[in-house]
Amino acid sequence: MRYIALLGSPRKDGNTAALLASFLEGAASKGHTGKSVYLHEKKIFPCSGCNACKKEGKCVLSDDMTDLYPLVEEADVIVHAFPVYWWASPAQTKLFQDRLYAMDYAHFKGKQLFLLMTYGGEDPNSGPRLCEQSYRDICEFLDMRFRDCIGVCSGTTPVRENKRALERAFLAGASI
Ligand SMILES: Cc1cc2nc3c(=O)[nH]c(=O)nc-3n(C[C@H](O)[C@H](O)[C@H](O)COP(=O)(O)O)c2cc1C
Repeated sequence: MRYIALLGSPRKDGNTAALLASFLEGAASKGHTGKSVYLHEKKIFPCSGCNACKKEGKCVLSDDMTDLYPLVEEADVIVHAFPVYWWASPAQTKLFQDRLYAMDYAHFKGKQLFLLMTYGGEDPNSGPRLCEQSYRDICEFLDMRFRDCIGVCSGTTPVRENKRALERAFLAGASI
């Protein structure tokens, strides 16, 4: 299987990056390959809602999404990894997600989606639950398979010291 993994955290060595690294190790252990994208360093303009993509079949904006669209098209699996920011995904992830509006939605049919989230507030925490519900609804709308959601509180233990969370992410990656 081929994946595209989207790191929405600005912190390359943070909690979310650690969780994603473990997931990708699991995926690699089963021979899966793909591309990881550090969204924070990408130039992605906000969707302007002009709807030109719906008439002309492509987005009129010219930025790094031009290279990311084909990676999304080719992927069997989309992995979103992000920290919860204000009960939602961070802007980096949202900019990317909004721009998928320009794609032919037929491309998404049957693709798998994994959601990896970290957050500071102890459980029960409505932030990750709201994010999970959004992505479940997106998957239903796009006819994608919502495969798994791993949400880890980093507030008490940093993720890289949380063996249980890292193991769970590894196994999810191996389950692609
Ligand atoms: C701007 C901002 C907003 C945040 N909002 C929330 C929130 O709504 N709920 C929560 O539990 N944690 C929140 N946090 C904490 C982060 O989600 C948490 O520390 C996360 O593990 C950071 O991931 P990272 O190490 O990959 O940056 C927020 C942190 C920042 C910087």
